[in-house]
Amino acid sequence: MIIVTGASGSLGAPLVRALAREGADVHGLSRRPRQGDGVTWHVGDLASGPAVLGEAGTIVHLASEPFKKGADLVQTRTLLEAARPDAHLVYVSIVGIDRHPYAYYRTKLAAERMIEGSGRPYTILRATQFHGFVASFFDALSRGPVLVAPTGTSCQPVAVEEVAARLAELALDSPAGRVPDLGGPEVLDARHMARTYLDITGKRRALLPVRLPGEVGRAFREGLHLASEPGGSRTWTEFLAGRVQSPAPRP
Ligand SMILES: NC(=O)c1ccc[n+]([C@@H]2O[C@H](COP(=O)([O-])OP(=O)(O)OC[C@H]3O[C@@H](n4cnc5c(N)ncnc54)[C@H](OP(=O)(O)O)[C@@H]3O)[C@@H](O)[C@H]2O)c1
Repeated sequence: MIIVTGASGSLGAPLVRALAREGADVHGLSRRPRQGDGVTWHVGDLASGPAVLGEAGTIVHLASEPFKKGADLVQTRTLLEAARPDAHLVYVSIVGIDRHPYAYYRTKLAAERMIEGSGRPYTILRATQFHGFVASFFDALSRGPVLVAPTGTSCQPVAVEEVAARLAELALDSPAGRVPDLGGPEVLDARHMARTYLDITGKRRALLPVRLPGEVGRAFREGLHLASEPGGSRTWTEFLAGRVQSPAPRP
């Protein structure tokens, strides 16, 4: 039995479908009742330790609340308390977090360390930013008359389906510790990404270059969040074109 926390999320959804296609006994955890995707769903909140976690031989831990301070540490601690001592823990993390001062990345690093120090067999995959995550920022920022684009900053966006496929392989395999990072195929300047977004969505907005402030801004300009090797194959342009042709249903 494989249980996926965050199974309803942008990465969880393609992951549980990939695991189900492989014939795995895949279970999903969500705070609300759900059905579908070839998954046995369980209602549970990681803030309170759902009992089903103790039944799984493999736990893929994707659940996250980036904008709630400390939430991911509470979730990871609860998961570790509930998991079997021999459960294979598979954790998805973010490229470059060792030296990055962004608060959410500090939390992800602390969660990685909790898993590594738990005595459980584990696998940790770090990925760069998903295409849909970056696009959702541009969607929000382009609601006004201009689109803000950070200067001197690059991104290496990756297809969430490619991260899901890699995680499915890892979850079905033996524990491997920290595995090589997975980034997208291209390192793109943020202003170029914003311009491509406007071209493909057909939105007419002026680009407003902005220098991200402080040590967090500097870390992004230094590219600490970029993978050392190109990874997946789907490009930013292909992602945007696919999204325009078949927009995701509103949740
Ligand atoms: N987004 C990116 O670009 C990116 C890049 C690299 C790594 N990652 C990592 O990938 C993971 C998944 O990201 P995502 O973008 O797929 O996230 P997402 O779409 O925001 O989904 C978050 C998931 O967390 C679950 N969740 C939140 N709080 C919970 C709680 N207290 N108990 C149980 N479940 C809870 C939600 O489930 P319900 O609402 O159904 O309860 C939801 O399925 C995260 O760990 C993130 O750090 C993301």
